[in-house]
Amino acid sequence: MKRITVPDIVARKGKEKITSLTAYDYITARILDEGGVDIILVGDSASMVMQGNESTIPITMDEMIYHTRMVSRAVRRALVVGDMPFGSYQESISEGVRNAIRFMKEGGAHAVKVEGGMEVVDLVERLTSFGIPVMGHIGLMPQRVHQLGGYKLVRDEGMVEVAKALEEAGVFAIVLEKVPVDIARRITESVSIPTIGIGAGPHVDGQVLVFHDIVGLSGMKLKFVRQYVDGYAIFLDAVRRFVEDVKEGLFPSEEESYG
Ligand code: KIV
Repeated sequence: MKRITVPDIVARKGKEKITSLTAYDYITARILDEGGVDIILVGDSASMVMQGNESTIPITMDEMIYHTRMVSRAVRRALVVGDMPFGSYQESISEGVRNAIRFMKEGGAHAVKVEGGMEVVDLVERLTSFGIPVMGHIGLMPQRVHQLGGYKLVRDEGMVEVAKALEEAGVFAIVLEKVPVDIARRITESVSIPTIGIGAGPHVDGQVLVFHDIVGLSGMKLKFVRQYVDGYAIFLDAVRRFVEDVKEGLFPSEEESYG
């Protein structure tokens, strides 16, 4: 099976939509890879989805490497992108370079994602100069939730110029999170790299969502998410039936036992 590369993703612009979902562990990554997802993002949303934190802020570099390693082991086709967590690149460019290298060497990631606008341009330039592919992330930047006062829609015309600056600095794609449809469209038309939307409408080059949201396992009901199954109810039912079967002596049966 041919691996999807960074140039493959860039070449999709205007030709074929790009699909991306999050994974934080081996089995989920296998399902996503077999399901045909192009980019598997080991998102710092793991902080909320896996660890039960209120935001993405607490997750550490070591924890992100742990998740990325599990995902990389499973993936045969998709591009694996490691999400630089809060505190892994803000202090200095050298810190950002060191941590991006960790994602690739220890986590097996093929690229990293960095939240930020003009303030990360120098870091992006440095990373890409060393051959580390970078995905940008503008619009709602969840690592800034306390400054923003919530996970709000970002209506800022200036994002078009920011996207151009990130493209110039070398990002191979940009995530647009919670951006109004018209601004997302203008950004998409203004850059020659793919835009990947999450809550940014249909006029972008691809879509990314949190896997646990689409299968009903995160407990989140968000306007921009399409939930395909109620995974929570399905698993809860299985657990309840197991408990019942054991209590009533219905499990294990003779066929489920050694003779
Ligand atoms: O951490 C994450 O999951 C993300 C996206 C959903 C874009 O950054």
